[in-house]
Amino acid sequence: MKASILKELKGRTDYISGQALAQQLDVSRTAIWKMIKQLEKEGYKIEAVPNRGYRLIGGSDIISEDELSYLMDESWLIHKVYYYEQVESTNTTAKQLAEQGAPSGSLVIAESQRAGKGRRGKGWISPKGSGIWMSLILKPDLNPLSASMLTLVAALAVSRGIDMAAGMETQIKWPNDIIFKGKKICGILTEMSSELDHIHYIVTGIGINVNITELPDELKMIATSCYLATGRQINRVELIGCIMKEMKYYYELFMIQHDLSLFLDQYHQRLANKDKEVKVIGQTEGYQGVARGITETGELLVEMEDGSIRKVISGEVSVRGIYGYI
Ligand code: BTN
Repeated sequence: MKASILKELKGRTDYISGQALAQQLDVSRTAIWKMIKQLEKEGYKIEAVPNRGYRLIGGSDIISEDELSYLMDESWLIHKVYYYEQVESTNTTAKQLAEQGAPSGSLVIAESQRAGKGRRGKGWISPKGSGIWMSLILKPDLNPLSASMLTLVAALAVSRGIDMAAGMETQIKWPNDIIFKGKKICGILTEMSSELDHIHYIVTGIGINVNITELPDELKMIATSCYLATGRQINRVELIGCIMKEMKYYYELFMIQHDLSLFLDQYHQRLANKDKEVKVIGQTEGYQGVARGITETGELLVEMEDGSIRKVISGEVSVRGIYGYI
């Protein structure tokens, strides 16, 4: 009911009376009043004027289950949203929920994370109110060896979603960092539980610096946020909507052939490392070459000095530009 009231208030610029809301939703006026109070507690600014009714004031950037309920429109990828004020890590919570039977298409979102996880054992700073920290649970009928490609699918979806919602031109640093003018704006961490030939679940964790106004000194040179890049505050719910719409589109294409072939061009158009000199840092060896693109199964193609091509598998190595991050 709270979601319906919110939808009504959002859909109009003038007042709506408690009576009209009560009739529309077939509940008492007291029930409406209680819900309005709850919405106010969640942070919505609602003006209540005697004889006129209620009106939502100003644009809000509130993430809640009600706000996100529109993602669950049945034509979308999302079937269930789990919202938390704070968790250790949305990936960890998503894994627990997946173990407990949460369906494919569950989206776990937190306003802040106490111990956000980055790749290679690093942490991920996840302050309250200014970012998107979310993890998507998928249970695809897919060979576990193909699962790492989903990270590239997510990168494409997030990059396109950010561009749409924030009017930016982001790029992808292979395999799955989203960057803007050379600085990282989003990281993706995919985790999986599987047997040799069967995936139990995949959790794709997405962290986006959205409205962060100041970054710690040690990150200023390599990271940015949508706000720092555009000077505008971005509505996070809208951004999540854009990303999930793109994710559904590319996930469905991916599941047709179980590879990236149907949208390889789109990935290449955004590939920041393309034709750049890169340093591939593996666990036992390191080498340099020029990144030429990716294969249909997501490996990076690196041209060596002698003209030979090496295929680099994501997850096993870290790729850096020879002069810096890209
Ligand atoms: C990276 O190192 O680039 C990956 C960062 C991934 C961060 C996101 S935030 C939401 C999800 N929960 C986590 O603990 N990590 C991912």
